[in-house]
Amino acid sequence: MASSRRKLSATHLGLDVSEERALNERVGVDIGALNVLLQRVFWGIHQADVIRIDIDATLEQLRARFPGFFVVPLIEAYVLRVRRQHDEADAALARARELVTPDHPLAYIMPTDEEWSFKPREQALEEVAPGAVWRLRSPCAPDLKPWIETYATVVRRDDGTVVVFNPGPMSPGAIAELRALGRVTHLVTPTKFHNQFIEEAARALPEAKNIGCPGHRENPPSRGIAFDALLSDEAPLFPDDFKQKAILGTELGEVVFCHRPSRTLIAHDLMLGNRRGAADVSFEARFFAFAFGLHDRVGFPCYHPLLWLNHGKMKASMREVLSWEFDRYALCHGGWDTIAEDARAELERSLQWYLNLGTFGALGLMGTFCWRQPSFLRDFLRYKIRESFRRSSPPALGAGQ
Ligand SMILES: [Fe+2]
Repeated sequence: MASSRRKLSATHLGLDVSEERALNERVGVDIGALNVLLQRVFWGIHQADVIRIDIDATLEQLRARFPGFFVVPLIEAYVLRVRRQHDEADAALARARELVTPDHPLAYIMPTDEEWSFKPREQALEEVAPGAVWRLRSPCAPDLKPWIETYATVVRRDDGTVVVFNPGPMSPGAIAELRALGRVTHLVTPTKFHNQFIEEAARALPEAKNIGCPGHRENPPSRGIAFDALLSDEAPLFPDDFKQKAILGTELGEVVFCHRPSRTLIAHDLMLGNRRGAADVSFEARFFAFAFGLHDRVGFPCYHPLLWLNHGKMKASMREVLSWEFDRYALCHGGWDTIAEDARAELERSLQWYLNLGTFGALGLMGTFCWRQPSFLRDFLRYKIRESFRRSSPPALGAGQ
């Protein structure tokens, strides 16, 4: 019972307030207050059509509140980079590099020179479970949108056919690599807010069936996409070798899979990962995940409570997923090594707080988030009202891709 009475952080979901305080001491600033302002900047850049943010005023608040803290010139550098003010962006990054020390707990967020060059990287399949699972990074476009690069997870089934989960943009070389693995039979996009590359992937691999999730029919940007089928727990797509489960009770509209032969859990926007020292996660992905409360762990970003519709149903769904047998976790917003081993045990530990959370606790997290981000609530409600009256093509709210 003690765990259910923990006073929880509303920003770093999964930590309690004493753990957040300890993190503040290690980092040297009020990390919750920092994150609230960073979130506004990210929204201002990437969801300007949904949430109205004065980015420059927010940067001014950051400078006033956290003078001399390296994350401030770092977010300035990022904003300037998005605005294509490259020289000013480089100067801001240089200021951040002067201020950070290598042993600072957040130093891992800093971009390497190669990352900061934003040069397109060669796409190549990475074999992560021998003969069974590969990963394909979806690179960012030059304007940094989609801002969070994602991974496709590619599974070769025992019959030699190939399934691509979360297909993103694919180079001709990557498509040839996929076809060399075997006959690509299915492109599966099992999460509602991923929609940008579905049609492009279907055109690139027309021999594959294009499978969406029921939420794609509700979300304006994906309503018109021609899917061959939508996922349904009543008729699982690959009952012989995959577990499949829709996560109910949340607007995420996510369907989770587990490839039994390789013991790999495959999920998308359900959780984000941000692991200090992980080699295969981009600068923007690290920075975004940190801003939304993920530091050196895997879990729910702090805006997720606003998407919870039925707490009981969602918890039951999560419990079922956690009852599956898996060792590895293929996240789309996080590298393969985000959890290097025994993923089920780590997820059980990291989600225990959620499984213990009562309805009032969930409402408290929602309320605290809205209290700290009042403009988000206002714009979110406006978006929902507008969405209910319009049938075509407003932008999606959510992580995008
Ligand atoms: Fe996403």
